[in-house]
Amino acid sequence: MPLFDLTSPEITEAPWRAYARLREQAPVYPLPGMPDAFAVSRYEDVRAVLSDGETFSSTLERNAEPMLMVFRDGEAHDRLREVMAAAFTPRAIAAVRPAVEATAAERLDRILERGRGDLVSEWCQPIPTAAIAEILGVPGDLSSEFQRWARDLLAIFFASKVAGEEPAGSFERLRAFAPVGLSLVASLGPRLGLELFHTIRRAVPERGAVWTRARLSSARGMAEFLVFFGRVLQGQRRRPKANVLDMLIRAQASKSSESARAPVSDVELLMQGLALMTAGIDTTSMLLASGVRVLCERPELFRELRGEPGRDQRIEAFVHETLRLWSPVQWTHRRATRDVEIRGTKIPRDGLVLALVGSANRDPAHFDAPDELRLDRGDAGYLSFAIGPHVCIGRNLALLEARTAFSQLLTRVGSIRLDPDGPPVVSRTGGTHGFESLPVIVEAAQKSAAPVRTNA
Ligand code: HEM
Repeated sequence: MPLFDLTSPEITEAPWRAYARLREQAPVYPLPGMPDAFAVSRYEDVRAVLSDGETFSSTLERNAEPMLMVFRDGEAHDRLREVMAAAFTPRAIAAVRPAVEATAAERLDRILERGRGDLVSEWCQPIPTAAIAEILGVPGDLSSEFQRWARDLLAIFFASKVAGEEPAGSFERLRAFAPVGLSLVASLGPRLGLELFHTIRRAVPERGAVWTRARLSSARGMAEFLVFFGRVLQGQRRRPKANVLDMLIRAQASKSSESARAPVSDVELLMQGLALMTAGIDTTSMLLASGVRVLCERPELFRELRGEPGRDQRIEAFVHETLRLWSPVQWTHRRATRDVEIRGTKIPRDGLVLALVGSANRDPAHFDAPDELRLDRGDAGYLSFAIGPHVCIGRNLALLEARTAFSQLLTRVGSIRLDPDGPPVVSRTGGTHGFESLPVIVEAAQKSAAPVRTNA
């Protein structure tokens, strides 16, 4: 039996024991059935791989020109990151907070009225969706569309080669792409519309994958989002509003005039907007769900967190420990740009490295009692947000969302437990850890009407 099999249910549900085996027996492990692909599991190695963007590229196919910044290297990456950073300044993040707080509170109150509900769809997902809606300057009640579009984006821009996959026929491709192109051109004009159309058409082959029927249907969803967000962008340029999108638009204009770098185009800006939905919604939702699950299973921890004084500090520590132990992103990929050796194992040029963040976070060589949730651990340097050139740009936003959300939960909810009629369903998306659903039974805290204070 292989030490680590990406397709096994153990790896998608609870990979912790498999990680320990890898760290001890094969810290640089050639993945079965995947030539020149290696899983790296020790803290020190994962950190070194992620920190060295020159040796370990984020562009998985050589010579590709990916649209999303997470897949770009060097200058091509930095110029996009510079502009997108405008959406994540302390001022921008503070602007998002009221929407996060209101959503966390309202959604909890609805569940409390019924005494039970699925925390993932009713609380964990709506909170980051409200945050992204606020950043992109669009109404927050679009949550189901946002989630659908985020999945469409995943299906296209994160497409990967799947052995034996059947490409859709040329007639099907024509029938799917014609309306996509037409809607983009009709709504956004020929220049922007056509560029976006070509970007979508190139995305799947750039990842070495093929256009299947399912991906063709996702292309329609992507076009819907781009039409929608393109109009928001054009509307705001004509009539500026005081919001985070405005900070992005200004950053796009000012960085273009003051820097020698190529200006960030509207196509690029629209695509990064789309990327925020994928990068920011499911990840944060997974973090919230993992935290709730622990609180359901450990009532003594729930009581400890609720107590005053020091509640805010304990919530902060709890969020960091939840991130470390159940990292929403379990691993990420890099491509070796040259022949390189890690712990005596040769990785050839263009070989793939799976940096197992979730394993690094539980490496006993770096963390004392790594499988224990300890509120007094302090900043232990966990890698859930990665490190190096691609360190998560939304880190502070995600932390604010989690602090705010748990603060609301601990104030409004007096007790919480898993619903015995519907056990939690673990998400099976490879490389992540989270829940599809988390049915709970809740009781309101005695003073649920009291004003709520958070330190987020
Ligand atoms: C708990 C929540 C989150 C986790 C665990 C997380 C994790 C990560 C990780 C591991 C990376 C590096 C990926 C790589 O290099 O391969 C990353 C990058 C990124 N994240 Fe997050 N993320 C979270 C929330 C967010 C949020 C809320 C946003 C935005 C709204 C966001 C936007 C991004 C973007 C745009 C990148 C690419 C950065 C770059 O390439 O320079 N993330 N995130």
